[in-house]
Amino acid sequence: MPNWDELLHDKDEGVYIYDLTALKERAKSLSVSRHRIFYAVKANSDSRVLKTLMPFVDGFEVASRGEIEKVRMLSHDVPIIFGGPVKTQEDLKYAIEHGVTSFNVESLFELDELQTFCMEKDCHLTIQLRINLADIKNDATLKMAGVTQFGLPEEDFIKAVELIQSSNNMELSGFHFHAMSNNMDVKNHLAYVRTACDFVKRHQQLLPPEPVINVGGGFGIDYQQEKTFDMVHFMRQAEEMPLLTFEIGRWLTGPVGYYAARVYDIKQMHGQNFVLPNGGTYHFRFPKAWFHQHPFLVIKQKQKRSRRKTLQQVNAVIAGKLCTPNDVFGPAYYFEDIATDDLIVFKFAGAYGREISHLEFLSHAKPEILYI
Ligand SMILES: Cc1ncc(COP(=O)(O)O)c(C=O)c1O
Repeated sequence: MPNWDELLHDKDEGVYIYDLTALKERAKSLSVSRHRIFYAVKANSDSRVLKTLMPFVDGFEVASRGEIEKVRMLSHDVPIIFGGPVKTQEDLKYAIEHGVTSFNVESLFELDELQTFCMEKDCHLTIQLRINLADIKNDATLKMAGVTQFGLPEEDFIKAVELIQSSNNMELSGFHFHAMSNNMDVKNHLAYVRTACDFVKRHQQLLPPEPVINVGGGFGIDYQQEKTFDMVHFMRQAEEMPLLTFEIGRWLTGPVGYYAARVYDIKQMHGQNFVLPNGGTYHFRFPKAWFHQHPFLVIKQKQKRSRRKTLQQVNAVIAGKLCTPNDVFGPAYYFEDIATDDLIVFKFAGAYGREISHLEFLSHAKPEILYI
């Protein structure tokens, strides 16, 4: 655990802390797998995070031109898989011009664009069609298969295959299945991957001898800290499966990030306690988005100002500095002992933390990033 006093003694407004040493250890533990490990940049696209991961991953999965740019600023040739729905003509052109050769395709419109560019540029691309599996057991927090917008509609599957087969520039290398995020159940995840492998087997006549079976990410971290996703067990079981590609986000970066802010004010309003740090959901929207109790620490500090307020053994809502009642970090939290000038440090803030926050709202300062 970082030395909070040393790190944060002169910090006031919200900051992120990314523990790059811990990140390296997590990435190293996965890199022993014989499967292909890609990092899903959307979880945390900070350049030092990407740079730390680079030696341990096979490449990066991106979902936008911006993410391609961030990866290419660090390496001109590290493999990139381009995924996500609604990839426009400009997006695909940019990707091809920046050395992306692998695409997770979700639409016939995308294939039309890719075919046009390939012919123009005389390049060769490998295509994975994104399949939306309906029949998987899934208790994950975010479901991204079944009745969702993701993947190629079933009615377009044959047309997509024919289009690729008739092209001299595109090769159907396999399928992409990313189906969930924050799954805590190893057994369910293994069953999902087996369903994906069965799908590939049923369609093997369309594919090369060692097809891409891209099962995305989805490995959970328990924000309530009651259990852990047993990655060692999962990977051991997965060793016996055909070669897989993973696009892992949350599991890699989630636990190595923190969001901290100093308590500016404490109030009681009509019977409800509020703790107001000098920060807010514009920096760290995640607990609001999931409306859950996000794990946190209180770091006791010396009193900085002449006025002081305290709360002990009560519930209080943590609210930020935006002019909206929506700026709360989820439901009320229990505080053993908190005072103005103390620091609140939210744990598990390294994935979908800064990245999903509305940083421009009210034009407050953007959160500084500190590194360990
Ligand atoms: C296509 C795709 N791949 C990978 C990921 C990463 O998932 P996770 O952060 O759950 O590992 C996502 C996240 O939504 C995604 O949409």
